Amino acid sequence: MRPTKLTNSILILLGIFLIGYLFMNLLQETKAEGNKKGKTNGTLVEYSKYPEVDLITDITDKEKYHISMHYPKFKSKKLNEEIEEYVSTIEKGFITTVNENKKYIKNHSANLSLTMDIYTMAENTYSIVFSEGSYVVGANAQQKAKVYLVDIDKGNFIQQTKIFNDTKQNREQLYTLLNESFKESSEYEPLLFEESLKEWTMNKENNFSNLYFTDKSAVFKFDKYEVTAGAAGMPEISIPLEKMRDLLTDEWKDKLWINNTKKDDKGDSNDKQIEKEETPDRTSPTGGKRVALTFDDGPHPKNTLKIIDILDKYDAKATFFMLGNRVNFYPEIAKKVADEGHELGNHTWDHKDLSTLSKEEGIQEVEQTNEIIKSTTGRESTAFRPPYGAVNEQVQKSISSPSVLWTIDTLDWQSHNPNEILKIVKENVKDGSIILMHDIHDTSAQAVEPILKYLKTEGYEFVTVSEL
Ligand code: NI
Repeated sequence: MRPTKLTNSILILLGIFLIGYLFMNLLQETKAEGNKKGKTNGTLVEYSKYPEVDLITDITDKEKYHISMHYPKFKSKKLNEEIEEYVSTIEKGFITTVNENKKYIKNHSANLSLTMDIYTMAENTYSIVFSEGSYVVGANAQQKAKVYLVDIDKGNFIQQTKIFNDTKQNREQLYTLLNESFKESSEYEPLLFEESLKEWTMNKENNFSNLYFTDKSAVFKFDKYEVTAGAAGMPEISIPLEKMRDLLTDEWKDKLWINNTKKDDKGDSNDKQIEKEETPDRTSPTGGKRVALTFDDGPHPKNTLKIIDILDKYDAKATFFMLGNRVNFYPEIAKKVADEGHELGNHTWDHKDLSTLSKEEGIQEVEQTNEIIKSTTGRESTAFRPPYGAVNEQVQKSISSPSVLWTIDTLDWQSHNPNEILKIVKENVKDGSIILMHDIHDTSAQAVEPILKYLKTEGYEFVTVSEL
């Protein structure tokens, strides 16, 4: 009996080791794949207009899915570690879901997009607001938001409860303010669940982690279904700082307030507007063949500049469908595109799939972008292109600019190969073609000159989409 028992124990032990060993191997492989992926697709670090905040753009294209993630990089290691942890949790979660559903996913159909916005709260203090949108399979696209308040000087995150003076009375007052704001919106008003809002506000567990601050308001970002019916999407409720002031701690009352008045003194000058109406009239058709080059998802600090230099060399005008949040990061690039006489198009604020948003959210995506294009460049955006070519009817009705899709998709984001891009153009181009490219990839920028050269010898004239 004894030897058998002993053999059994040894076998069990061996078994455990074997499983452990296989598991470690599996982990290593996943890791290796992760690293490889990073290299083939690439991470870009770019400077932004915010001092001490760089912007990382991390793009991954695989057969089944596309990931694009934007996140900040600070001087502080502590801040970076936390942000990277958050970003990688999202990425891993998405890839796990993709792997679990692999056989149901059509090629290139799953996508994850993580974008962020930055708002200055006070000196060296920023609100970082992430929006995560993902689609894997089936009818449900997912959306989530996450807020970080960062003090760059101290290298610290700031808890919202350090800013909001958390007393029962203040929470009651906050409920009144939120309730009023919801009711001011004709879109949200009928969708609001007042009782849920009250519970949400008074719940001690709620530490307002999705509250952030701009230089003018306190903004509450609600999850879908949190306090409204689903049709409201993820409502964002802004309360002007002057109304919030009494609900803040003494320290922050002054910090936010002082900053606010400072900003107002500066006053946004209108001098940019004077330069308007400069778009040259190139509509005189020569009777020849015409083609419109279009560039999506920028501006990009290096590649967009490269592209407009080449366009200039060929006396070509193109249309740039910009993302509002990138115009915000790179205002001087957007201005340059406008000053060179290219057409400015709206490609939404942060590349959300408009068909998945509520009407209010969709309109906001478009209008905010129109506004920043106007205030940054002094020119109106005159065309609109929905991300993924998708809009729902409600949103479509409220967009004044014409929606412009494309006739030739160069698949530049997929091939990352200037020769492939040129080849697709050569095979498909004809009079009146609208060519889709992306000015965020350096391989796309490299393809522009060969394309222009080829089309020129073929007798094409380069025009904007509006001219076409
Ligand atoms: Ni796009």
